[in-house]
Parts: sequence; structure tokens; C-alpha cells
Amino acid sequence: MKTHAEDTAENHTPHIIIVGGTSGIGLALAVHHHQLGWQVSVVGSNVAKIESINSQYPTLKTYACDLTDDTQIKNLLQTLSSVRFDRLIYSAGSYLNERVQHLNQADSDKMLAINLQAFEQVFRWASEQLKQQHQSLDFAKDCRPSLICIASIAGTMDYPYASLYAKSKRAMIATASAYRLALDPYDIQVTCIASGYIDTQALHDLNDGDASHKPFIMSVQMAVVEVMQAIDNDVELAIFPRSMRYITRTLNHLPKPLLNWILRSKLDKPS
Ligand SMILES: NC(=O)c1ccc[n+]([C@@H]2O[C@H](COP(=O)([O-])OP(=O)(O)OC[C@H]3O[C@@H](n4cnc5c(N)ncnc54)[C@H](OP(=O)(O)O)[C@@H]3O)[C@@H](O)[C@H]2O)c1
Repeated sequence: MKTHAEDTAENHTPHIIIVGGTSGIGLALAVHHHQLGWQVSVVGSNVAKIESINSQYPTLKTYACDLTDDTQIKNLLQTLSSVRFDRLIYSAGSYLNERVQHLNQADSDKMLAINLQAFEQVFRWASEQLKQQHQSLDFAKDCRPSLICIASIAGTMDYPYASLYAKSKRAMIATASAYRLALDPYDIQVTCIASGYIDTQALHDLNDGDASHKPFIMSVQMAVVEVMQAIDNDVELAIFPRSMRYITRTLNHLPKPLLNWILRSKLDKPS
């Protein structure tokens, strides 16, 4: 005789929502889950990207939402509240080459809104949704519900001269860690990804079409493998590639003033 959980669970195809899934690592993860047989929904703001996904991957569901617009976020979350899901990945991000001092008001507002404020809204909403599903045992079979966020290795270093990007990713790492503990009693997994450079179009565009000079840059496909391993192994904070992990770990052991001086002289060099 089947339990209620087994009975409910086996009826579903697992469903993933990827916020920031219209390009780069988010889209690569969307395609990967699609190939694994998941039902996939992606969120982004760029109409051209959404149209391209609609024609290239007609079975992917697309949602247009500008994460810097509070009304659009509320509408999106309201729409998605009627949708059951098993995994959510927050991959939306805004990054620039500029140092924090060079950000104008608009860039600064945008970076904070996408990398931190919208992330917090989406994670808060998603955790409530998964908790409700937990009460009704409404998950796909053999699929532990999970919340994943794409931070950055930049957020793993603690130093005063850090950029707004690094500080917002650091806050994301800390937030994900708190959610992981809070959602443990509900058996909901929370994993945070802190990767080094990934060879995405966005990184190319920021570097005049060539990001090959970025240290230890990895392919998008390699990044997908790393992210999936981190999820499958229930890693709290996945830092990769390994070479970058060792370097940041070493730097974090230095006295703060020295670390600050090293990074300041490195980061302020014209590239
Ligand atoms: N590439 C790297 O080297 C690297 C390294 C470490 C961490 N990361 C992180 O990985 C994530 C993805 O980066 P990526 O290189 O793959 O860049 P990407 O291709 O630009 O992906 C960013 C995603 O965020 C979405 N997004 C941006 N602004 C948005 C807005 N206002 N409203 C809704 N969605 C918005 C984009 O969708 P629309 O354009 O459709 O709005 C896109 O789907 C980011 O969080 C980034 O910080 C990247």
C-alpha cells in the first residue's frame, strides 16, 4: 500500500524555475534540466532573449519581469504562486567592470536591486511556497525540494575595499546560509554557488568580446557540471574552480590591512 506522499509524489514531472534564466549560466542550467526531463520555467526582462527562447525551446515556459521594478516582481510572484515547483535557481545578476567608486546612481541602484533586493524577495517567496508544498507533500518523486542561488567567488572574501558587486554577493552567501538552517526542518535544501569567471556572453560583452585574460576562466558547460554536482551533493557553499578556491582561502588568512592593500593595488590597475 502506497503512502500519501508516494501517491502524490509520483504524479509530477519535476519543475524548476530559473530567475535570470534567459541567458548565460541560468539558460545553460535551464537547458540542462530540460534535457533531464524537467519542466522548466525561466524569468528575465529582455524581450529579444525571451522571443529567442520561445522559438528555440518551445517547451520552456518564459516569464517577462524586470527585477528592478517592484510592481513587476509582485505580479510575477502572484502569477507563480499557483504553480507547483521543486527547485528554484536565482541566477539573475548585474555586474560591471567598474569599481564601486565609479558606479553612477542608476548603476548602483540596479546592482543592489537585482543582486540583493530582488534575490531576497524571491527567496522569501520561494521558501514560503516550498514550505506550503511540504505541508501537502506536493513534490516530485525522488526530488528533494531545493533553493539555489548563484553568488560569486568575489563574495567569499572579506575586505573593506570590496565592490558593491562583491558586497551584495557576500550578503547573498550569508542569506543563503541562514535559509539553509531555517529550512532544514522542512527538508528543503539550500545551496549557494560562488564561482569564479564563467565564459558567458555577458562577460565577453563587458570585455570587448574577449574574456580569455580572466584568470582561471571556465566554460559554461564546465560551470553547469560544477553546479549540478554541488546540488546533487547538497553542498552549502560551492566555491570553484579549485585553483580560485585555494587562492581566496589563502588571501582570507592574511591580515585585513595587507589583503586590502593587495586587492586595492590589483583592482585599481587599468585593465
Ligand atoms: N559570468 C561570470 O563570470 C560569473 C562569475 C560568477 C558569478 N556570476 C553570476 O552568475 C549569474 C549569471 O551571470 P551570467 O554571466 O550568466 O550573465 P547573464 O547572461 O547576463 O545572465 C544574467 C541573467 O539575469 C537576468 N537579469 C538581469 N537583469 C535583470 C532584470 N532587471 N530583470 C530580470 N532579469 C534580469 C538576465 O535576463 P534579461 O537579460 O532577460 O533581463 C539573465 O537571464 C549572475 O548572478 C552573476 O553575478 C557570473
